[in-house]
Amino acid sequence: MSHPLIQLRDLAFGYGERPVFQGVNLTLNPGERLALVGGNGAGKSTLLQLVVGLRRPRRGEVLAFGEPCRDEADFHRMRSQVGLLFQDSDDQLFCPTVLEDVAFGPLNQGMSQQAASDLARETLASLGLEAFAERITHRLSGGEKRLVALASVLAMRPRVLLLDEPTNGLDEQAQTRLLERLQGLELAMILVSHDKSVIEKLANRAVILQDGELLEAVMHSHPHQHTHSHLHIHPKRDLESDHSHPNPAHNDHHNTGD
Ligand SMILES: Nc1ncnc2c1ncn2[C@@H]1O[C@H](COP(=O)(O)OP(=O)(O)OP(=O)(O)O)[C@@H](O)[C@H]1O
Ligand SMILES: [Mg+2]
Repeated sequence: MSHPLIQLRDLAFGYGERPVFQGVNLTLNPGERLALVGGNGAGKSTLLQLVVGLRRPRRGEVLAFGEPCRDEADFHRMRSQVGLLFQDSDDQLFCPTVLEDVAFGPLNQGMSQQAASDLARETLASLGLEAFAERITHRLSGGEKRLVALASVLAMRPRVLLLDEPTNGLDEQAQTRLLERLQGLELAMILVSHDKSVIEKLANRAVILQDGELLEAVMHSHPHQHTHSHLHIHPKRDLESDHSHPNPAHNDHHNTGD
């Protein structure tokens, strides 16, 4: 019963003549929150697409829950348990309204219209998006689409999450809400992010994609003391009135003119 959730064995892939990977191996075990890092163009998004069968490798094998995925039927089955949040939400959302987009997965899994719709509303509410249910999806802002796309993935109640830059384009409040939600899920995940603070909060293991190879990485943080500054951006008129840092210990600089 304790199969690895995902295994990649000797995967090779390229676009046209240009190779992206030569022989990638990876195992994701239950409880692992794996950060997948690497520079722009290293192949992180491509790797996630290979995992769920949206692209097919030139060589090698993908196993989900111990079973090899060989054809579209195998990948289709695995995709109902392995939810991919695309880097670009426009690739993920395609229904007229938000509620339809979030209910689409559960409906596709065989749930009744009513149950899928209830689950979609519940999932939207868990991300603070209840007011968005009737909105037209393609008219949402980038950050709103990002959150709705995540709701559409979570509504499928996956066993594994593949998150391609989940906090990209989100404001501070939305980012905090999303991180709290993800921390509370206790789901295995592969997380692609360029934001180290996001990785620090979510991941317990890391791998690096570099020059077509996937390398195990060590995560560590250095405690250090430093002076720091806070950027405050607020309307000009507020300068005339008192303004302060949310943490009273940080208020000195507002009054000393530094
Ligand atoms: N559809 C495509 N056709 C041809 N080349 C592609 C295609 N998609 C991606 N590539 C190329 O493959 C390489 C890997 O792209 P990928 O999007 O996987 O990188 P990434 O690590 O996700 O980068 P980023 O951090 O910028 O999102 C890049 O060099 C990219 O230009
Ligand atoms: Mg990418």
